[in-house]
Amino acid sequence: MWDVLLLDCNAATMLGDAAFGAIRDAAIGIRDGRIAYIGPRSGSGPAQVKRSLGGAWVTPGLIDCHTHLVFAGNRASEWDARRRGMSYEEIARAGGGILSTVRATRAASEDELVAQAQPRLAALRAQGVTTVEIKSGYGLDTETELRLLRAAGRLAHDMRVSRTFLGAHALPPECALDRAGYVERVCDEMIPAVARERLADAVDVFCETIAFTPAETARIFAAARARGLGVKVHAEQLSNSGAAALAAECGALSADHLEHLDEAGISALAKAGSVAVMLPAAFYFLRESRKPPVAALRAAGVAMAVATDCNPGTSPCTSPLLVLNMACTLFDLTPEEALAGMTRNAARALGLALETGTLEVGKSADLAIWNVGEPAELAYWLGADLLRDRYFRGRSDNEDQP
Ligand code: NIG
Ligand code: FE
Repeated sequence: MWDVLLLDCNAATMLGDAAFGAIRDAAIGIRDGRIAYIGPRSGSGPAQVKRSLGGAWVTPGLIDCHTHLVFAGNRASEWDARRRGMSYEEIARAGGGILSTVRATRAASEDELVAQAQPRLAALRAQGVTTVEIKSGYGLDTETELRLLRAAGRLAHDMRVSRTFLGAHALPPECALDRAGYVERVCDEMIPAVARERLADAVDVFCETIAFTPAETARIFAAARARGLGVKVHAEQLSNSGAAALAAECGALSADHLEHLDEAGISALAKAGSVAVMLPAAFYFLRESRKPPVAALRAAGVAMAVATDCNPGTSPCTSPLLVLNMACTLFDLTPEEALAGMTRNAARALGLALETGTLEVGKSADLAIWNVGEPAELAYWLGADLLRDRYFRGRSDNEDQP
């Protein structure tokens, strides 16, 4: 006997040979928060509660696998300066950019950080997100970095939160003359503290000319691995530094951005099985022109994920559905690749592939239920309100419904 049986629906399982892994006229049985049955209606059995979904499509709950959702303030004025011709790098070198958010974040309490992040998280939830990754990186000192990660942990209501420590996001102003000292603090003080208090699942580094070098990145990855943490990287966003290959050789879960990724980087990701995370809203917002090598990644068999990169500087975006469209319109993914990028492959990028990301018996019953006629519409409509319901661990957002 199942707890809940969903009927009168179509399922995009994101598995198997059919487009979107579609099962038409499907039934989904849920028991103890997990998917207990997914298949044709004819194969379903008894349940305590039956819910008719009126022909809606059910997909895995969306997974936003790259965000910087917890921060204080915003950078609307900087955006305006860029609109008038200043570049992201110029703003960063002038002490703005990431460092202006660091100043606001250091001045904010944990409660304030939670309160400011909540509406952004609510927007993701309203578009079917059931798992979100949240990075630190706007503290750049031990105390504030840990505060960001604790605040992120407090957002885990009706939502799975995967936390990533990004102490190596920028060099803090007080260490401007002591790069080595800061990297040492990241490795010997911050990573051990994060691991000890279990505040993050992985460690990320912004490897870029305006941030950290490949050598510094390698050192930070070694410290992360030594503490049993996964690694991820912001790589080849503004230039090619070989960071994606470096990360792949460390067994990275993912390499993210990748506009300037080269052949060597592509082969390294393919060989390691690391996920390539596309962040088209940052590409759009920075008015970049160089696209990530999607055709070559596809040909090499690299799994591609898609995420909002929600952050105040390069992607003030809280709409995963808009990002699905951007992945297709700007980066030439197919609608099916885009949706796989926010479900199956996003789960892989977080090391959560056994738990969520597809509609499969045994996985957490994390579902998004959509008022669309075909799953490709999820990547098609701009700004539409498509979500009918969402289940997290088997519990509906409209739990009162009959
Ligand atoms: O993913 N590239 C570095 N980090 C962010 C930007 C952060 C910021 O500008 O505040 C990104 O694009
Ligand atoms: Fe980012």
